[in-house]
Amino acid sequence: MKGVLLAGGSGTRLYPLTRITNKHLLPIWDRPMVAYGVEALVKAGITEIMLVTGGTHAGEFLRLLGNGHEYGIERLAYAYQESAAGIADALGLAERFVGDDRVVVMLADNILEYSIRSYVESFEAQASGARLLLWEETSGDHLRSLGVAEIGEGGRLVDIVEKPSEPPSKLAVTGVYMYDPAVFGMVRQLEPSARGELEITDVNNFYVKAGTADYDVLKGFWGDAGESIEAYYAVNDFVRDNGVNKD
Ligand code: DAU
Repeated sequence: MKGVLLAGGSGTRLYPLTRITNKHLLPIWDRPMVAYGVEALVKAGITEIMLVTGGTHAGEFLRLLGNGHEYGIERLAYAYQESAAGIADALGLAERFVGDDRVVVMLADNILEYSIRSYVESFEAQASGARLLLWEETSGDHLRSLGVAEIGEGGRLVDIVEKPSEPPSKLAVTGVYMYDPAVFGMVRQLEPSARGELEITDVNNFYVKAGTADYDVLKGFWGDAGESIEAYYAVNDFVRDNGVNKD
């Protein structure tokens, strides 16, 4: 199993903080944000990781993570995304690195209270396809800024709607995605969305429509620290008070 940690994008929702650095290098409690994603993957047993970043501060990741050994990474590769063309575009850069293996993709601004290890193990036991981690959110406003799952009979995933004006459920799609190697063929078929990006939700819907996407609903806290200044500080407070990536 390979890991891909996505730390590109333009971070405009955290301007002006992100005019002078990459969002994923901003501090969350006592570490740069990206270190939590690294920890989440390593604690799940994933030690071959590619970090994808872009923009003007890419070199700082090398300075922070180096060869990764200090963080428990066996093999750390880097890729540079030329423009912030979407999460799926960033994932596409990892195709040769992942090869015929399976991959856990994580957005480097996502912070989880508990280790993802058990979910990764469930994916390892899954014959093929994709596995998504969902999180129950009660605020309709928040759901409207996320990907939201539609659940059908027997708890089956039937659709994912990106930033829905009318959320089809309370289950938000978090930024942890697990895929078989067929994902790269799907990425190649994508067309840019109305916001000009290759959308990870379109990739996930390929699997959903094929009936090969399964999911878990996360326990504990989940936060997207890049969503807004308020979310950034709420995540900081949570991490300081409770710790994250716990077993
Ligand atoms: O955080 C969960 C949400 O993440 C999901 O609920 C949504 O379905 C999913 O589309 C995504 O929504 P966001 O609007 O929050 O995505 P954002 O554009 O902020 O990108 C999130 C991360 O992805 C960012 O921290 C770094 C990475 N990224 C993003 C873009 C656009 C890249 O590496 N390259 C990119 O070009």
